[in-house]
Amino acid sequence: MKTVGIIGSGTMGSGIAQVAASSGCQVIVYDSDPEALTRSESNLDKILTRLIEKGRIDSEEKQKIKDNISYADSLDAIQSSAIIIEAIVEDLDIKKQVFQRIESLVASSTILATNTSSLSVASIASVLKEPERCIGIHFFNPVPLMKLVEIVPAIQTDKKTTDQAVELIRSWKKAVAIAKDTPGFIVNRVARPFYSESLRIYEEGVAHFSVIDHSLKSRGGFRMGPFELMDFIGHDVNYAVTESVFKAFYFDPRYKPSFTQKRLVEAGYLGRKSGNGFYTYDKDGKPILVEKSGEVDAELSKRIFERVLIMLINEAADAVFLNIASIKDVDMAMKTGVNYPKGLLAWADELGIDWCVHEMDKLYDEYHEDRYRCSPLLRHMLRENKKFYN
Ligand code: NAI
Repeated sequence: MKTVGIIGSGTMGSGIAQVAASSGCQVIVYDSDPEALTRSESNLDKILTRLIEKGRIDSEEKQKIKDNISYADSLDAIQSSAIIIEAIVEDLDIKKQVFQRIESLVASSTILATNTSSLSVASIASVLKEPERCIGIHFFNPVPLMKLVEIVPAIQTDKKTTDQAVELIRSWKKAVAIAKDTPGFIVNRVARPFYSESLRIYEEGVAHFSVIDHSLKSRGGFRMGPFELMDFIGHDVNYAVTESVFKAFYFDPRYKPSFTQKRLVEAGYLGRKSGNGFYTYDKDGKPILVEKSGEVDAELSKRIFERVLIMLINEAADAVFLNIASIKDVDMAMKTGVNYPKGLLAWADELGIDWCVHEMDKLYDEYHEDRYRCSPLLRHMLRENKKFYN
């Protein structure tokens, strides 16, 4: 049985603690804010009570999970941990300070992991005396419900650390995808066009946002449309991720943020949480119906869906081309991390690699923007008559 130390008891730290404790690990949670610890403990109690009501666990199980977690207001308490998972504020300097302090407290066999979603693991590891024990373990929110965990070895990370991290996270019944230490890892990189291309289509006046949402849901089987999803995530959060990925990729036009979304953030139209985004919400967070956009033209709907889908497929193919992750892991990550109805590369096979290249080239011919460049991998596969899966 492993002892797991968790630094930061906010949304993510609390979720990680619940999952680790439910799998029988001893968990010690530390937060610099004592109130955050109290909140985390009382929230967990409520969550576990709800799980009893739903018949998922019994009261004995609840007690066991609670007994497996202790809350500490001093960092010294995490000394005996076999692994520490950091889930504090997304600030490189603060994370570096915390990692240095942790390293001075724990044994040299302790793995030091970060749950960062946008910072480079290599830069966090760089402050350690033994950076080979540092790794990214990127969970998705809400942690107990989302199956995917991206494991991100930095260039300094040794294989033993990666193997041990993979083994531990699999023992928590999570699906592990290995990702290269690059901006957005797998999901936050490959998913960008779902938002950005939909925003672009909307900005061009091709269709109302509710029509775009409808097309992606009805034709593609996506659970939420891009505009509903951005409203749900919060435009402040979604815009910040897009902006950070764009900067981190040295301003590659493929990841360019949208003015439409920037204005929403500036106006304080943050989405569901503020009552206003693309849609308007009542006080319970339910959308108030937007103006009916009339019968959706079938041809238009198909065009919108295919344009967003091909941009997603192209991004997924490029992630494989640049060795960010394997074909299998890219597909699995999008299905389990953001609930896509199909793996994008399996989708590419289904539609045909020739179709994919043709659609990308059509967009490029129309716009002559680098944003629409076809992944060299797709072109290569077309020449060689290859598919992603055989
Ligand atoms: P949060 O704001 O809910 O919680 C952060 C917690 O860290 C707070 O309780 C705060 O008191 C504590 N904290 C801040 N500085 C600290 C320090 N120096 N020492 C100890 N505790 C400190 O944040 P959230 O959303 O849980 O995010 C945590 C990390 O997980 C961030 O790196 C974030 O980028 C990453 N992440 C967040 C996801 C999300 O959807 N919220 C998804 C995946 C990763």
